[in-house]
Amino acid sequence: MTHPAPRTLLLGPPDLRALVEGVGLDVLMDELIQALTVALRELDESVLQVPKREGFQVVSEPRPSGVIGWMPALRRGDSLTVRVASSLPTNRGEAGLPTLVATHSVYDVKTGHLAAVMDGVFATALRTGAASAVASRYLASPDSRVLGLVGCGAQAVSQLHALSRVFRLEQVLVHDLDADAARSFVRRVEFLGLDVRPTPLPDLEVCADILCTATTVARGAGPVISGHALQPHAHVNAVGADQPGKAELPLALLRRSLVVPDFPAQARLEGECQQLHPDQIGPDLATVVQQPEEFQGWRERNTVFDSTGHALEDHVVTRLLLDHARRMGLGTLVALESLGGDPLDPYGLVRGDADARTGSPRRATGT
Ligand SMILES: NC(=O)c1ccc[n+]([C@@H]2O[C@H](COP(=O)([O-])OP(=O)(O)OC[C@H]3O[C@@H](n4cnc5c(N)ncnc54)[C@H](O)[C@@H]3O)[C@@H](O)[C@H]2O)c1
Repeated sequence: MTHPAPRTLLLGPPDLRALVEGVGLDVLMDELIQALTVALRELDESVLQVPKREGFQVVSEPRPSGVIGWMPALRRGDSLTVRVASSLPTNRGEAGLPTLVATHSVYDVKTGHLAAVMDGVFATALRTGAASAVASRYLASPDSRVLGLVGCGAQAVSQLHALSRVFRLEQVLVHDLDADAARSFVRRVEFLGLDVRPTPLPDLEVCADILCTATTVARGAGPVISGHALQPHAHVNAVGADQPGKAELPLALLRRSLVVPDFPAQARLEGECQQLHPDQIGPDLATVVQQPEEFQGWRERNTVFDSTGHALEDHVVTRLLLDHARRMGLGTLVALESLGGDPLDPYGLVRGDADARTGSPRRATGT
């Protein structure tokens, strides 16, 4: 009996555009926030294994340092999701590309077959925004109305979108060292219909109920806010620190706050938690989601979500996007691996043995 050779589903920008047109961007974000909350609540390391990420520094000082790394999440007996992502602040000026470039790959762990590959730029923005929304829902005052954004790049767009789905935002104050980025941000988030204003940093710090830092500040050049005049209840999502030596928040703020890392082992090496002694670090986000009543009192005090990026988030967003894509018949199926011929003959592809079973690329059919 011949088995059909498994194919790989490719999902690129046109597929994701069609997906968003079909599902709706707000619905997609709501679904992701919900799926991430459930995944954190039900996190079971015997089912989902997530090691801390590894990577290489590929651009060194004096240019802004850049990294390329890989983040795996293994769902036992099911799939391995690997996100390969680079954070290269030189990209925008030198190549006209985003700072954050990523792809997500999904492997079938029963066979090792590469089941899907998709763009990770959009997925990263979605899941990083959703993570801040989940953390803020559990740690910020539910009456939060003023959001402050420090750093008005790509991640700031989805930070605002995700938070606007959880809080009734009345005002969004934004600040960037690059005034053009702050100005263009207003246009990029017009679709939300919110009151968004470029604002001097001291005013932003005084007024914000929730504040997100998503900057490419260089290693050793932080903090990016003073933290002196924050509201006593302000919650901060610190999103930008992702390398040893990089930090966005002042130590005094961290010391007086409940600091909640997404992934403690990673945050101690790359996040705001680098600045703290282990016993000054609070519970991880999964613990807060699992035991919300324990931490409810902190909603009226300063709290920090130390977001370094968790492969659990990559797993959840990849699954959500793939489920929609498969249901809608989006993407292109290709025979990427040499799987169609005699399993004992890796040279079969030279004779074209596999071609009859794999054929040429075709659109997915929605089955
Ligand atoms: N936590 C996560 O899961 C996660 C996910 C994606 C990206 N990141 C990190 O977040 C950071 C931002 O990513 P991005 O894709 O938005 O980058 P980006 O280049 O699109 O935007 C960064 C913005 O920060 C501004 N900036 C730099 N230093 C500043 C300062 N001191 N004060 C105010 N603004 C400043 C820049 O001018 C730029 O506009 C990067 O370091 C990236 O690696 C983290």
